[in-house]
Parts: sequence; structure tokens; C-alpha cells
Amino acid sequence: MSLQLKTGFTFDYDNLVGENKVTKADVAELGEKIAKAAEAIKVMRETGVIRGHLSKDGTPEKVLFSQLPYVEAGHLNSPESLAHLQELTDSVRNRVDAVVSLGIGGSYLGDKVIFDVQCGEFWNSMSAEERNGLPQIYFSGQNIDPRRTGDIIRQLGRSAKICKSHKKRKMVVSLLVISKSGGTLDTMSNFMVIYEALQKNPDIDVEIVAVTDPNEAKPTLLKKLAMENNWPQYSVPDGVGGRFSIFCDVGLVLAAVCGFDIKAFLDGAKAMDQACQGSDPWENPALLNAVLKYIAAEKYGRDMEVMMPYGDYLKSVSEWYIQLLAESLGKSVDRDGKEVFYGRTPIVAVGTTDMHAQTQQHQEGKLNKIVQFIRVENWDEDYTIPNIFPEVQKLADISGVTMSQALEVARQSNAQALASNNRFNALFSLPKLDAFNLGQLLYMLALSIAYEGELADVDAFNQPGVEAYKRIMGPSLQALKK
Ligand code: PA5
Repeated sequence: MSLQLKTGFTFDYDNLVGENKVTKADVAELGEKIAKAAEAIKVMRETGVIRGHLSKDGTPEKVLFSQLPYVEAGHLNSPESLAHLQELTDSVRNRVDAVVSLGIGGSYLGDKVIFDVQCGEFWNSMSAEERNGLPQIYFSGQNIDPRRTGDIIRQLGRSAKICKSHKKRKMVVSLLVISKSGGTLDTMSNFMVIYEALQKNPDIDVEIVAVTDPNEAKPTLLKKLAMENNWPQYSVPDGVGGRFSIFCDVGLVLAAVCGFDIKAFLDGAKAMDQACQGSDPWENPALLNAVLKYIAAEKYGRDMEVMMPYGDYLKSVSEWYIQLLAESLGKSVDRDGKEVFYGRTPIVAVGTTDMHAQTQQHQEGKLNKIVQFIRVENWDEDYTIPNIFPEVQKLADISGVTMSQALEVARQSNAQALASNNRFNALFSLPKLDAFNLGQLLYMLALSIAYEGELADVDAFNQPGVEAYKRIMGPSLQALKK
């Protein structure tokens, strides 16, 4: 059983719906709730209003991520904002040697997905020509780890020396500082340490690009610095929370510096949004995903979700999804303040790697998990496993098939084995791994979370739980200085 879109995106729910699984009767029983959720998301699309959603300071706040795929004059993404991003590409190409993207949570995870899918592991070792004149890219700010920060500073220092001896000029490094609130400890501490170190290096010219809340009346401290120092600025608009921000400048600046196809990415998100307008869950993949996972958790106790894409460079999709699911749905109270302790615990996995690590638990551990697979149908690059040791029967047996065939056989075998032991699983299948299909997938997941928030009646767009440790951490940091 599957739902296939015209774009080729497929949601295969064979191992999630049926006898001893979520039944069609379960879905039918939820009919009224589903209709209400569909209506609420329709209202969100049209007006940005989500019932009961309040910002951090307790005032009503619009939810606008569903507008981001629609590039139009006056919209959050407009021809002007895309032209501004093109300026960034033009300004770094053949001029900036390295970009350090600084951010955490929603200001990092989506950027890492784009980097991994577009650039892969060895981007920074490629020649500038192989990178089409685009810079090396490093990430920082996603932790407060002095050793790694030191590693980045030393690595840039090394590259600067090579630049000086080969090209007889200073190396140009651009720090892309991404923070909606403009003052996050992890991001800003790394920024200040790295900025200071690079300024002291006589072989490096350092420049800054700021991505933050654009509000000039109440500027974030990053915005203030950007205005005072004339740094180029990009926006994290009001109404777009960190975990939905890959479709705005937060993700798109990284796309711009690594040559990722922004238009195709947003087109993919738009195609998915258009496919998810209806109120019939069997025709709307985002709604169907939300409904099935909601029932699986509430009725069948499957309140953990293993996100398991098959392919190394998709692991960051799983990491991105962890934040989306955990921060959106992990809520102690519903929108009327009643205790509900809702949410599925997200688990990062990647196939085939974690078949050799986690699968034992998925197959035989507690019956509390859904394994959500992601598959790429057609790989741009493939290798036939050669028969170079014909005398070794076991190796001869695995030769003659392509690596992508072996990967898919491994995934299917895992899915089948899980299903045979009453282990719920499902599959999102992408025709290929490109900007359009990535846009479809990520947008579907974001929208699905919005639907599930409605089904569970929790505010999917706040994160009051992350304020608790911040209230302790701020004074504790200050106490260190006394
Ligand atoms: O979802 C969220 O709001 C958080 O995870 C933030 O993205 C993260 O804390 C970074 O915040 P900021 O962009 O303000 O630096």
C-alpha cells in the first residue's frame, strides 16, 4: 500500500497499516479529529494563525513556514530575497576561500543537510576549480567544544599559509553567523573566539555575514553589531521558528555559498505543499503520516521514532528531523493546559550502518518503535561490485550487482524482518537525491508535524522546555566570573 505523488515521491505504508498494525478502521474512527486538523492547517496556510500558539514572551505569534515555498513579491521569499542570495553566491565565488557557518539547532541542522547532500564529505579537499570557484565550508557553533574550535582555527591557519605561498595573497575567510535571537551562547562564543583568532592572523582577511531577526526597532545583538559594522545581513523572519527555517535565509545562505539549487529546493517544497492540501488523509502524505504515527503512538504504544535513511549523506536529514519532532511535539500540556506528556522520542539511525548496531533493538526490543525508512531510488553514481576474487565463493556471490541494488536489498530485508515480528515501519521513497526531492521530503515532514500538533492538541511551534536549563545556565555562567 502506498501513496505516490505525480512527482514520484512515494509514501509506502504497507508495514504500518493492516492487520495487527494501524487499521483503516482506526483512521476512520479519528475522522472528525482529522477533518479539524486539516481545517486548522488550511487556516494556518491562509492566515498564519494557529490556535493557542504563543511566542516566548507569551504573545500570539503567527506561523508562516508554509508561505516559504511560494516565491512572490511581498512574500517572505521573494524575487528580491532570492536576488539578495544570488549576490552572496556572486560575492563569494572566486574571492572567498573559506566560509565558517556558525549556528546551532535550527540555525545549523538544515544547513548541514544542504551541505551534505550538495557537497559530500570531501568538498574541502577539492580544488577551487572542482568546487566551481566556491569556498571551502566549515561548521562551528553547534557545540562549545574548545578542542574542535581550536582545530578549525588551526586548519584555517594552515590553509592561509598554503594560500600565501601558492597564490601570494592573504586567504579570505567569511564567517556566516546565523542566530535568530542573535545571542545564543554556543554560536556567539565560537564566533568571538574564531573571529579574534583570525583577526590576529596576518595571512587572513576575515569578513562577517549576519543572519538574524531583521527587526530594527528591537534589534538582536547580532543585528546591532551588523548595523554598526556594516556587515551584509540576511533575515530570519518573524513567524519562522528555527526548526522550520531551512526554507528561509537560514538554510538558503548555506545553499547560496555551496551552489545548491535554491529554486529547485523551494519548487520541491511547493509541489509537496500543493499535494498536501486535501482533508482526505489517504490522499495527503503529510496528513497521512501524522495520522498513522499519532494512532501508532496513542493506540499501539509506538512512541519512539527511528528515522533511518539509507545513505551516508542522509544521516543529517535524520539529525534535522530529531529537532523537528522533539521540540515540536514533546509537550507536557495540551493547548488547554491539561497534562498530556505527548511526543515520540526521536532516534537517529542510518542504513546500512545501524543495521550493525541498532537493529537488534528494533527487531527484538520493546514494542515501542516505528522505524521510518528513507530511500533514494536512482543514484547519480553507482558501481557494480566486481568479481575480483572468483576463487572466494562468498565474495563471488556478492559480485555482479550494483552497490545501490545491494543497499536497497539490505533495506528491504530489514523492513521485511521487522514486519515479520510486528515491528511497525514505513518508507519515504525519493526518485533521486537532488534539491527538488530534498525540498519535497523536508517540507512534507515539517507539515506533517504541524498536522500532528493539531491531532494531539499541543502547540507544535513553541519550546518552553528549553528555557528551563537556560534559566539556570545564565546565572551560573555569570557566577564563574565572580
Ligand atoms: O528551534 C529552536 O528555536 C532552537 O533550536 C534554535 O534554533 C537554537 O536554539 C538556535 O537559536 P538561535 O537561532 O536564536 O541562535
